[in-house]
Amino acid sequence: MNTVLLKNNEEDLIKASDMIRSGQIVGIPTETVYGLGADASNENAVRGIFSAKGRPADNPLIVHLADFSHASEYTSYIPEIAEKLAEKFCPGPLTMVLPKNEKIPMVTSGGLDTVGIRVPSHPVMHRIIELSGCPIAAPSANTSGYPSPTSASHVMNDMNGKISAVVDGGDSKYGVESTVISFDNENTARILRPGCITREMLLEVCENVIIDRAILNEVSAGEKVSSPGMKYKHYSPKADIIMAEASAEKLAEYVKLHDGENVYSLVYTGDEKYFPHRCLSYGADSVQQAHMLFAKLRELDESGAEKVYVRAPSAEGVGLAVYNRLIRAAGFEVIKL
Ligand code: TXA
Ligand code: MG
Repeated sequence: MNTVLLKNNEEDLIKASDMIRSGQIVGIPTETVYGLGADASNENAVRGIFSAKGRPADNPLIVHLADFSHASEYTSYIPEIAEKLAEKFCPGPLTMVLPKNEKIPMVTSGGLDTVGIRVPSHPVMHRIIELSGCPIAAPSANTSGYPSPTSASHVMNDMNGKISAVVDGGDSKYGVESTVISFDNENTARILRPGCITREMLLEVCENVIIDRAILNEVSAGEKVSSPGMKYKHYSPKADIIMAEASAEKLAEYVKLHDGENVYSLVYTGDEKYFPHRCLSYGADSVQQAHMLFAKLRELDESGAEKVYVRAPSAEGVGLAVYNRLIRAAGFEVIKL
């Protein structure tokens, strides 16, 4: 299959929407990461997403809508707390897991009776949903297990020849995927995947916000999880990632002792002076680190890195999202120096 690169203009967005309406798969920019979009109600198209990514069939897809008012068309019940959150955070990087209705096929929901609903704020994604008239199922547009794509070229790298087109909408603003939440009851939200809508922000609307234990802890085989994605290895470049809770100076000393030709460091912007060679930086604060992390992990692979020591990010606020992605990329291997 020839994968066409489309631009951010009305003519090309009409092409992309026509492709989606006719059951094809298109790489689309969102404010979080790029998605692999298809008509969520078309079972064959959705199966195509799973095969293009090599994604396990029990890992559900998020359904993207142009406006939260359309959520009632695809769900059987919307708690008041979800409506309130939508008023505050939609459109934006928040996904709410709600009970689905029959309009969402089981292939899309990975066999669950719930569906993750998200209203993206990226104007290109928004326009494509509007033009296609479809609810758009879209996982991150990476090969399953690999870091999520934050640019059209990342998507091309993973999906060239496997999907109909990629729409270039520039670099993703946030750089980490949406915050995924479910509801334990009318007052309590549970964070299943941290993102740029933080626990503190959710607490402006919800009485209680629980951080699911699987966000920072490895789940054991057979353990029941709140979100299927928690079971799988994620965000891993080819290089072996080791996360270090350390100051820049301590990490630099450690790397010096464990150095080798293909050993790299990924540190905070400003730390580089301590590292004489093979050092990349991923930002000075959590927001920058969220924005850059995935692109840097891909860049490390391109440099031929085999082992990467990463200076662990703060786990506060947006940092929790960055920490969560890195600890998974590191297979939960953290050293404290
Ligand atoms: O920002 C994002 O959310 C991006 C863009 C493209 O919108 N999408 C994305 O999708 O990250 P994906 O498929 O890569 O990750 C969705 C995560 C998975 O871990 C999945 O298990 C979880 O959300 N999820 C989806 N639907 C769910 C449901 N009904 N119940 C529990 N977890 C769900
Ligand atoms: Mg993903």
